[in-house]
Amino acid sequence: MEKKDLDWGNLGFGYMTTDYRFVANYKDGKWEKGELITDPNVTINECAGILQYCQEIFEGLKAYTTKDGDIVCFRPDMNAERMYDSAKRLEMPPFPKEEFVNAIVETVKANAAWVPPYGSGATLYIRPYMFASGPVIGVKPADEYQFRVFCTPVGPYFKGGIKPLTLCVSQFDRAAPRGTGHIKAGLNYAMSLHAHSVAHANGFDENMFLDPATRTYVEETGGANFLFVTKDGEIVTPKSDSILPSITRRSLIYVAEHYLGLKVSHRPVKFEEIKDFAECGLCGTAAVISPVGRVVNGDEVITFPSGMEEPGEITKKLLDTLTGIQQGRIEAPEGWIKKIL
Ligand code: PLP
Ligand code: COI
Repeated sequence: MEKKDLDWGNLGFGYMTTDYRFVANYKDGKWEKGELITDPNVTINECAGILQYCQEIFEGLKAYTTKDGDIVCFRPDMNAERMYDSAKRLEMPPFPKEEFVNAIVETVKANAAWVPPYGSGATLYIRPYMFASGPVIGVKPADEYQFRVFCTPVGPYFKGGIKPLTLCVSQFDRAAPRGTGHIKAGLNYAMSLHAHSVAHANGFDENMFLDPATRTYVEETGGANFLFVTKDGEIVTPKSDSILPSITRRSLIYVAEHYLGLKVSHRPVKFEEIKDFAECGLCGTAAVISPVGRVVNGDEVITFPSGMEEPGEITKKLLDTLTGIQQGRIEAPEGWIKKIL
């Protein structure tokens, strides 16, 4: 198979139309088998549930070319599981987990020419999603849905690669107490767009959202969880019912404990504690671990001891170990790597 002629090393995090996408429809109470198609456009009724009441959920994962030339993806079963939970919360018919993984495999296989080569720094970002395609005008769940998977080659999520980011504490909330912050629904991202624009207009890279009930605990950003390192080298990750359970964060916790021998604690984190931490990172599929150098809350400026030039030492070790596992340089825990080709 001949690779596409792309400047792999200089890709940004953007969408590019690739050759195939997977589509399956839900109708008359059941999911059809689904198939690969070439048309990237979606045609739906003007009154489709997604257009009127925002009934949509999605996932994000990546495929890699390993050191040995295999094409693999990382823990797709975890995305299948999370999408299942998201579907239930938005009253959508869950897509069967095994078929979810098969759809990922088929989509990546069909687009193998778009999987960036080993060592290029780029990856193939895979976007499974599901939306209400059936018409609804009264407020209720739709009767018909579509599940799709497309993929697109991407470079780093944040421009500048691993240069530490500057965040601001957002004056807006991303999620509601007892709302939908813990599932991956498009509506959460719509909620965060204004905050994102305001942060950018003020010269910040991203937002730090606080808990919506008391605004005293750290939650997450619009697209990644937080990971802190204490001055004693312990990993601390915020716990809350309105945070998306990041697969990267859960994997990093395992890596920290089992590969690096670090102590880990997953617990509520007060905003007032963070000035005492040594390092901070954003973790997610797109972000991998992006180091944070500074957090600004109004007049208060917190610069982590790791500084604004380089990622902190432990953040860097976590990043190297996780990407080593994903790219086949380091042996992976059982079941983490799904071979595609
Ligand atoms: N939090 C939010 C709001 C996200 O959008 C994402 C991205 O998927 C994450 C966290 C990180 O999750 P994961 O590591 O599963 O990609
Ligand atoms: C991901 O990391 O997969 C995300 O979904 C984050 C962002 C692109 C929304």
